[in-house]
Amino acid sequence: MSHPRPDEFSFRRYLAAKRTVDDRALHRPTLTRLTDAVADRETLRVLDVAAGLGTGLQRLLDWDCLPDRLDYTLVDIDSATLDAARDRLLAWAAEQGYTMSTGDEERETFELTRDAESVTVRFVSTDALTYAAATDDRFDLLVGQAFLDLVDLDKGLPSLLELVADGGLAYFPITFDGVTHLSPVFDPATDHSVLDAYHATMDDADRPGGSTTGREVLDMVAHGETTTLVAAGGSDWVVHPPYSADEAYFLHHLVDTIAGAVAGDLSEERRRAWADARHDAVAAAELTFLAHNVDVLARVRR
Ligand SMILES: C[S@@+](CC[C@H](N)C(=O)[O-])C[C@H]1O[C@@H](n2cnc3c(N)ncnc32)[C@H](O)[C@@H]1O
Repeated sequence: MSHPRPDEFSFRRYLAAKRTVDDRALHRPTLTRLTDAVADRETLRVLDVAAGLGTGLQRLLDWDCLPDRLDYTLVDIDSATLDAARDRLLAWAAEQGYTMSTGDEERETFELTRDAESVTVRFVSTDALTYAAATDDRFDLLVGQAFLDLVDLDKGLPSLLELVADGGLAYFPITFDGVTHLSPVFDPATDHSVLDAYHATMDDADRPGGSTTGREVLDMVAHGETTTLVAAGGSDWVVHPPYSADEAYFLHHLVDTIAGAVAGDLSEERRRAWADARHDAVAAAELTFLAHNVDVLARVRR
């Protein structure tokens, strides 16, 4: 029996597909607090760490969350992803009626202007923590979306917060927090084994980050010496049929990621049967998926 699924899996297609899922998930009261907190700024220096395809910048501009004059730096460890971000942002900006000029031949900087808006966009391909250790630059707003669960939080969070100017803000949306649910149930015992093993891989001592990072960020920010919690809330991903945009691909990708992560934790036959059933459920538009995430907004003072 064939089990329909994409011919190939692409992390960049996954990042693009999750845009609409994130759009629905983001905790609006936290984003509103951010928007209000920066509304009267004449200019804002923003650093977006692990920026991926740059969908965060697009969204913040689309949703009118930031002041007109911006200096926005995107950092990502993966240069090919950042190249794709540059191409996507230029194409999007043209559609939106921005006038564009590239500041240098390497296209590491470009300017977008439209009416009163003036946005300088910079691209830096490096590890965010290496960048934090090397730069003297300070930012009014640090954004780290769907990222902190990938770093050693005890070391990484303080060093990222060092990048924020006194009185500035740190915004960490969509940080995974320990709950993954797929329905309909395939077989309760296998579902538990797969999801427990999946979360355990995130907590593996060999890998930075962890499966309950969302609540850890909340606690660290609420009780930090340099941070005050401004706003926070759940930003759960919920994807259900009928799937919009490219969300069927998003689900296939997650099923493939989960099945890949748990290789070795249960028999190959059981793992494959679980993955086949899940891909089938996506193809039949029957799968509903939920993951619990947390958004945190903090004020940083020294
Ligand atoms: C789950 S994606 C999130 C991307 C984007 N923030 C979003 O929400 O669409 C994680 C991103 O982190 C990047 N990344 C992983 N480790 C990194 C690191 N140490 N420094 C900078 N970027 C990193 C990956 O290349 C990837 O683009």
